[in-house]
Amino acid sequence: MKFFSEMSRRMSEKRAYRASRKAKKLSYRTEYVISEDTPVNITEAFRSIKATLSVSVPQKEGGKAIVVTSGYPYVGKTTIATNLALMFALSDMKVIIIDADMHRGRVAKFFHEKSENGLSDYLSGQASYESVVRTSPANKNLSYISCGTHSLRPYELLESDAMKDLMDRLRKEYDYIIVDTPPVLILSDALAVAPYTDGAIIVVRHEMSYLRDIERELDLLKFAKVNVLGAVINDYKDTRKQKEYGGYSYYYDTIEKGKK
Ligand SMILES: Nc1ncnc2c1ncn2[C@@H]1O[C@H](COP(=O)(O)OP(=O)(O)OP(=O)(O)O)[C@@H](O)[C@H]1O
Ligand SMILES: [Mg+2]
Repeated sequence: MKFFSEMSRRMSEKRAYRASRKAKKLSYRTEYVISEDTPVNITEAFRSIKATLSVSVPQKEGGKAIVVTSGYPYVGKTTIATNLALMFALSDMKVIIIDADMHRGRVAKFFHEKSENGLSDYLSGQASYESVVRTSPANKNLSYISCGTHSLRPYELLESDAMKDLMDRLRKEYDYIIVDTPPVLILSDALAVAPYTDGAIIVVRHEMSYLRDIERELDLLKFAKVNVLGAVINDYKDTRKQKEYGGYSYYYDTIEKGKK
């Protein structure tokens, strides 16, 4: 796996450069969390993702764990991970979102809180479980673990036994565990944590993600034996009708295992 992660890093250099240039141009970021004022088409889109996921994650004892991935940055992983977690919480389920993006994690920002004492601190033995698990201000059923202070070895922390033990513990305490990760065609961190989850959803952004990159991401996940649960097409622009909130819409489609 380590060899593979190095290989994927080198192979994706050019595309990473192009994607980061694109992301820099769009570097002004907002955090969008659904509320009572959210247009109904947006909440409905999240509700349908939630409903599809509830049946597509394999049934077994304990909470269900889902990793949210994308090939390249800025496609909306954190937006989707956070709001999906909130939708589960609104249905009275106990949910936790883990910010496994130790490079540029922004989950705490979505809740207007600081990212001190989080996952990297817990996994490196510098913070207790109780100090890193926080209740989100958005909903009492929704907790989160921020990315923590930046770590020099995120991949190794995420594949460690400490991470596995943490996931085992969270499965006993929560109905859903949503893991937000950095883009997998740039950093392999999602591959380190995926084996401790039930599968991945991949996020692509309409008019931004390239088909060949999606194929590469699927190949990478397949090679790493990650169960791909489905894909979310973010920011889908339906030209047939006018959309509210800048064409904000989601589309969920299941992908048969191994099929591109
Ligand atoms: N459907 C949408 N409509 C409008 N803006 C959106 C939509 N989805 C995401 N955004 C905005 O795009 C930006 C990037 O989203 P987000 O941070 O969720 O992406 P990301 O994939 O997690 O990025 P990174 O890989 O860098 O962590 C944010 O400012 C977010 O508010
Ligand atoms: Mg993100």
